[in-house]
Amino acid sequence: MSDQPPADHLKAQGRALVREAALVAGKWIPAGDDAIKVHSPADGSLLGRVPKLSAAQVDQAIDAAAGAFPAWARTKGKARGDILARWADLVTQNEDGLAALISLENGKPWKEALDEVRYANSFIRWFAGMAERLDGKAIESPNGEDLILAFREPVGPVAAITPWNFPAAMITRKAAAAFCAGCPVVLKPASATPFTGLALAALALEAGIPAECFSVVSGGQDVVGGRLTGSELIRKLSFTGSTSVGRKLAAQCAPTLKRMSMELGGAAPLLVFDDADLEVAVSGTVAGKFRAGGQTCVCPNRVYVQAGIKDAYLEALTMRVAALKVGDPFAPDTEIGPLIDEKGVTKVEDHIARTVAAGGKVLTGGQRMTGSYFQPTVIAGGDDELFCHEETFGPLVPVFTFDTEEQAISRANASEFGLAAFLFSDDLNRAMRVGRAIESGIVGINSGLISNAANPFGGVKQSGFGREGSTYGIDDYLQAKALTLALR
Ligand code: SIN
Repeated sequence: MSDQPPADHLKAQGRALVREAALVAGKWIPAGDDAIKVHSPADGSLLGRVPKLSAAQVDQAIDAAAGAFPAWARTKGKARGDILARWADLVTQNEDGLAALISLENGKPWKEALDEVRYANSFIRWFAGMAERLDGKAIESPNGEDLILAFREPVGPVAAITPWNFPAAMITRKAAAAFCAGCPVVLKPASATPFTGLALAALALEAGIPAECFSVVSGGQDVVGGRLTGSELIRKLSFTGSTSVGRKLAAQCAPTLKRMSMELGGAAPLLVFDDADLEVAVSGTVAGKFRAGGQTCVCPNRVYVQAGIKDAYLEALTMRVAALKVGDPFAPDTEIGPLIDEKGVTKVEDHIARTVAAGGKVLTGGQRMTGSYFQPTVIAGGDDELFCHEETFGPLVPVFTFDTEEQAISRANASEFGLAAFLFSDDLNRAMRVGRAIESGIVGINSGLISNAANPFGGVKQSGFGREGSTYGIDDYLQAKALTLALR
């Protein structure tokens, strides 16, 4: 039995939150003739349009943020925290509609979209609580006489560039941290899913975030991304997206020496040892892999299972994956919605074709369905090399075999990426040993779900740098200011 409200009711709630505009310093700028069209991945219908802002309009948002920065930075931490808490309350009050909006523009099932809204809101609440705890340090000078007072001050106006796979959570993880620290934000949401960000910003302004401190700018990456990264007034960029785009943005930020947080691509390994609990390993694989239909940077991209447990694992995994319900995001029993677009579908097809050509065997799924829906797929064997270097970003689990712990670690680390990794073992010593040896920022041990506000989220190697959420997530928005007090 589902307690999900009827689809028509939810869709109407989601559509009511669509604003066909950009938000610049409190003014809604409507979409003109030359606008970005936003389509539903579920049925291709047009949801609405957002404007392609000019360079001058993006500059207005930046100038407003810079102008508002000193007063926002001086606002007491407690007051900023109270505003964030009010924002979180408003998000909670609107969570059904926000979830519907996510389902409409992103295609994830409504229940999963509701989980995302709550996940997104957990960052707002997390940083609401932190805003009055941004204390500095008193340090004794080496001369034994002076006192150094190190304050933690906000870095300045922040640009946030966010992806389509989590249209709410990737925004709040950045914006709530920035507001907590005392930084204004100019946000560029993904062009495929701009409406959730606009709806969140409207609620933030209603909660009391000053209008100049939160603009949402839409348009071409060249114009909008170019102005944000090139501006001297923007003092930090926080980006979530692909490694290739991250590199370009980093190069664009170099002349103005901005702070950067880069949450980039991954190719997460998932290791299953002979001593793992089979049910825990299979459930963890399915939960991690099929979250957002496999379209997350942290979902397992390649599974390595030890020879002794391989047959049992493959049999149980195949049964579970074959039973997953693919369908309309608003149908109550849907577990997997459509992929974001046709490009996403052809990538999954390409990975399956290349793995089959290398000797892999499709155990379930393997085919595109109607539109951008794709069958959840398990494939065993073939060459893992492809999956060490390319993220599938779709509902495909490729499974390979290993014999020894050393081999497992070596394959896990055979990638330029290092965002997330997972391992399943009931031997605590092994779990700690392997967990420490894997080159990645986040490791799930006996769990496929590692994303929450308390976890320092971020990668190593070509998966980027900086941490989001957790007690570390504020650090990139603050800088030390040291006063030396000479005592006599
Ligand atoms: C991502 O896919 O970039 C982030 C996913 C998450 O926060 O779990």
